[in-house]
Amino acid sequence: MNRLNIKNICCIGAGYVGGPTMSVIADKCPNIIINVVDLNEQRIKNWNDPDFDKLPIYEPGLGEIVKRCRNKNLFFSNLIREKIQEADMIFISVNTPTKKRGLGAGKASDLKWVEACARQVAQFSKGHTIVVEKSTLPVRTAEVIKSILNEVEKSLKDNSEPKTFDVLSNPEFLSEGSAINDLLNPDRVLIGGENIHAINSLVEIYKNWVSEEKILTTNVWSSELAKLTSNAFLAQRVSSINSISALCEVTGANVKEVARAIGSDSRIGSKFLNSGPGFGGSCFKKDILNLVYLSEFFGLPEVAAFWESVVNLNSWHQNRISRLITKKLFGTLSNKKIVVLGFAFKANTNDTRESAAIQICKNLLDEEAYLVIHDPKVKFEQIEIDLEKNVLGNDSIDKNKLNISKGGNWHFADNLNKIFENADAVIILTEWDIYKKLNWQEVSKIMRRPSWIFDTRSILNTNDIKELGLNFWQIGDGIG
Ligand SMILES: NC(=O)c1ccc[n+]([C@@H]2O[C@H](COP(=O)([O-])OP(=O)(O)OC[C@H]3O[C@@H](n4cnc5c(N)ncnc54)[C@H](O)[C@@H]3O)[C@@H](O)[C@H]2O)c1
Repeated sequence: MNRLNIKNICCIGAGYVGGPTMSVIADKCPNIIINVVDLNEQRIKNWNDPDFDKLPIYEPGLGEIVKRCRNKNLFFSNLIREKIQEADMIFISVNTPTKKRGLGAGKASDLKWVEACARQVAQFSKGHTIVVEKSTLPVRTAEVIKSILNEVEKSLKDNSEPKTFDVLSNPEFLSEGSAINDLLNPDRVLIGGENIHAINSLVEIYKNWVSEEKILTTNVWSSELAKLTSNAFLAQRVSSINSISALCEVTGANVKEVARAIGSDSRIGSKFLNSGPGFGGSCFKKDILNLVYLSEFFGLPEVAAFWESVVNLNSWHQNRISRLITKKLFGTLSNKKIVVLGFAFKANTNDTRESAAIQICKNLLDEEAYLVIHDPKVKFEQIEIDLEKNVLGNDSIDKNKLNISKGGNWHFADNLNKIFENADAVIILTEWDIYKKLNWQEVSKIMRRPSWIFDTRSILNTNDIKELGLNFWQIGDGIG
């Protein structure tokens, strides 16, 4: 197999994708030196922290891998220029959020960080470099990267040290919370490219732990579009089942029973059929909106409208939950204490980007609720940013403070002790295991009556909770 022998990799972007992905490659390819670089100094400091609990990203299994490889063949630094110079393969793994202003605002991806990377690579690289798009990008972005790199290739034709480039698309399909397992046992690895030698170089890296039949090669644009489509299909499934949960609640059906029945059909399959508070995470909404933008751009308004409805349903669903909570609590949340369990967009991650908890909590605060928010991995500073509202003191929660009039405020709880005292309601927003194991009998004794439990993740047993004399609402349950 013709290929370049890759000895030195640089990954630009030490985030939720760059950090775990490169850690796994380093672990599986001990002969390759891997440098993960980032503009963000604090993030790099955290990646280099001697305490592995302080890594900037929480993912089960990540700490052990970083422990094995860091400063052996895996390095984290801000030395962007130097590490680009040394690399023969460069992964671009930077953020690609939705554009906030200008052409395509609210839908198209903002490619300014990707473009900046391409320019850095063009400027600092040496010899032949394979550039790999790891970030999720709109279709035909490889062309943008190539044209920036080509200009450099052309301008340096007579130079004694010419630079040449290949561009590959290698989108990442990991799911936060199970990133390490997903990277170690991927359903597939997708590599889009033109030059077979460049493709083979990347295939050889993955072959160290992924069987060859799972490594799919395509042209660049199919690869880029496949990533957007994959996220759009997953998000569409979540919106589909969430729409049915609303229907179950009003018709006396149960969404878990419906999901089990339809999921047994092998054409539908049973995965991704759990109803919840609405999808979150940095990718689903952004990638669908990107697809909407592309469809509109290429003159396909019906296709755009179809996909946009998936996002609209998700927003409606989040608002539906907060409206429902307000209604059950007699139409007013003023002076009411509500314990919020979980703020991350899903369990086993500290990521709150686009978490359903943000919109739901904001709505409850608008109704002047007093929220006590707990999450085992999210820091209060992050919640302050997300809610655009400062936390109420950072002292430990004092029982006497709980019931005083604190309309529209929130308090952070770094543990579960005493937080339920005098609470009017508890809302489960993230499916962390610790919430499943709570002693609800003890909780029921100290809440203010009438007390409500809202389980948006379907993690509690309806009968167990009702037996304790608590009012109980569970997503999609029109029976209980
Ligand atoms: N998070 C996920 O679950 C996931 C899964 C698959 C794909 N993706 C895609 O991967 C990409 C990265 O996502 P993420 O969640 O890791 O983002 P992130 O925001 O966690 O990390 C991106 C990092 O890139 C750095 N950066 C930006 N521009 C830079 C530059 N010019 N030079 C050096 N560093 C720079 C930022 O400082 C940041 O630390 C996105 O395109 C995303 O859509 C994400």
